[in-house]
Amino acid sequence: MKHIIFAVTGGSGAPIACRTLELLLAADDVRVTMMMSDYAKDVFRAESGMDLGKTQAELAAGLAKRFKLNSRFELMDIRNMAARVSSGSVQNEGMIIAPCSMSSLGTIANGITMNLIHRAANVMLKEKRQLIVVPRESPYSPIHLKNMLELAQIGVHIVPATTAFYHNPKTVGDMVDFVVMKVLDLAGVQHGLDKRWKGMEAD
Ligand SMILES: Cc1cc2nc3c(=O)[nH]c(=O)nc-3n(C[C@H](O)[C@H](O)[C@H](O)COP(=O)(O)O)c2cc1C
Repeated sequence: MKHIIFAVTGGSGAPIACRTLELLLAADDVRVTMMMSDYAKDVFRAESGMDLGKTQAELAAGLAKRFKLNSRFELMDIRNMAARVSSGSVQNEGMIIAPCSMSSLGTIANGITMNLIHRAANVMLKEKRQLIVVPRESPYSPIHLKNMLELAQIGVHIVPATTAFYHNPKTVGDMVDFVVMKVLDLAGVQHGLDKRWKGMEAD
C-alpha cells in the first residue's frame, strides 16, 4: 500500500485539487493523508462553489459530501504540528501539493514551517522522499522562479498547472486531466487518464 500525503494550498486550481483527490481515492493501493490550508478553502469557495466552512469538522463534512472518502483516507489539521506526518520516522511514499501557492512554495523553499503542510514538505526534503508541487501563478516573478529552481535542484518535481494542447482538449476537464495525469504518473499512482501524445508520422 502506497501512502501519499496530499496537500491543497491557496493557489488557483480547485478543479485540479478535486480531480487529484478523486483519483487518489479511486486507486485501491493508495492511502491518502490530506491537508488543506485556510486559503485553499477560500479558493474552493471562489472556484467551485464549495463551502468548506471554518472549522476542521466543517472541512471534514464538506469533503465527505463531495468525495467518496474511504477507510484509506485521513484528514489532518494544518495547525497540528504534532501529527504523524510531521515526523520523518513515519514512512510514506511522498507528497503532492496541488495547487501550490507561491507563498507555500517560497516558505518550503526557504526551510520555514508555518503549518503542517510546510512541515510535511520539509520532511520530504530532509528524508529525500518524493515531493511534487503544482505551482500556479502568472506571470512568475524572479522570486517565484528562484524558489522553484531552488526546489527543482534538490529533486522536487515542479509540475506547472499548465495544460498541453496536443491531446486536443475540448473541455476544462480535459485540460485539468492533463495536469493531473502528469502528477499521478510521477507519483506512480494508477489512473485511467489518457491525455498522452500519440505520435505523428514523419513527412
Ligand atoms: C481566489 C483566489 C485565487 C488565488 N490564486 C492564487 C494563485 O494562483 N497563486 C498564488 O500563489 N496565490 C493565489 N492566491 C493567493 C493565496 O491564496 C495567498 O497567497 C495565500 O496566502 C496562500 O496561502 P497558503 O499557501 O497557506 O494557502 C489566490 C487567492 C484567492 C482568494
